[in-house]
Amino acid sequence: MTKAKVAILISGRGSNMMALLYAAKLPDCPYEVVLVASNDPDAPGLALAAAEGVPTFGHSHKGLDRTSFDAIIDAQLKESGADYVALAGYMRILSTEFVQKWEGRMLNIHPSLLPKYKGLDTHARAIAAGDSHGGCSVHLVTAELDDGPVLGQLRIAILPEETAENLANRVVFAEHQLYARVLADFVSRERNPEWLLGKVRELALALPEASEKTSHGSPGFFVEGGKFFAYFSYDHHHDGIIGLLVKSSGVEEQAMLIERDPDLYYRPAYLGPSGWIGIDLGSGSMDWEHIGEWLRKSWRLSAPKRLTKMLDIADQF
Ligand code: GAR
Repeated sequence: MTKAKVAILISGRGSNMMALLYAAKLPDCPYEVVLVASNDPDAPGLALAAAEGVPTFGHSHKGLDRTSFDAIIDAQLKESGADYVALAGYMRILSTEFVQKWEGRMLNIHPSLLPKYKGLDTHARAIAAGDSHGGCSVHLVTAELDDGPVLGQLRIAILPEETAENLANRVVFAEHQLYARVLADFVSRERNPEWLLGKVRELALALPEASEKTSHGSPGFFVEGGKFFAYFSYDHHHDGIIGLLVKSSGVEEQAMLIERDPDLYYRPAYLGPSGWIGIDLGSGSMDWEHIGEWLRKSWRLSAPKRLTKMLDIADQF
């Protein structure tokens, strides 16, 4: 199976980056590290990554506005072929444009039990508040600082007479365990049939008067009146494919699509001769907007006029 490509952004020591990098060397790790980049060309972590044979990029942010600097980093990420970005001690506030580009594919590690103690001095604040535990969180990056959905956390007991420095040292051990695990699970989910079915279901059932029922052992989606417009197919007759079957406009379009993009499209058994097209969902980095468009198109080909007219009107606004 192809591995997900991860780029890591750091600003300093880079111990979390190294934890991610060493985890990537374990057998069966679902990701590989394709780039380590920093806003400080002298960040110690860059030299460590380079010594491990990982491409690195360092460029100072000094004298550049946020958007211009982020555009430089973004160009490097693109060139590296990264599917995901892991922020690991990257001490930069990100521009909105950059966050939007990577939304849903950029993770961060933060040294507190979010939503508590966003920002800096997290350990001192937890101790001063008399908390029984500090900890760390991995979360998806959104426009608000340290605010995106939390993907995983570890709690670390605060000792009597605790100092922020001691607590920070212990939290870092926990961070190294947490980040590698959460990142591996996160990049794997787009190859997980349960997760893929959940995504398809969400999009299909958002269409007007759409419902779900099992058909020949596969989850199927139909529109009022009973016509199916999509099937989720998992290892059907042991073909090994996690796929979505939708209606194309006919066998000509079907043939054209398969010729143009044979990694994405295939001709499904049984429904193929009637112009249905199979879309392979298991690549690990699906374009869900594209899947949404296919479902909508297939729904239109199946829905009664009364409903398609409604959608036409809604589309005008
Ligand atoms: C880590 O503790 C990380 O959680 C924190 O910086 C440290 C980086 O250490 N990140 C933040 O505070 C981000 N808001 P490292 O360079 O050794 O990975």
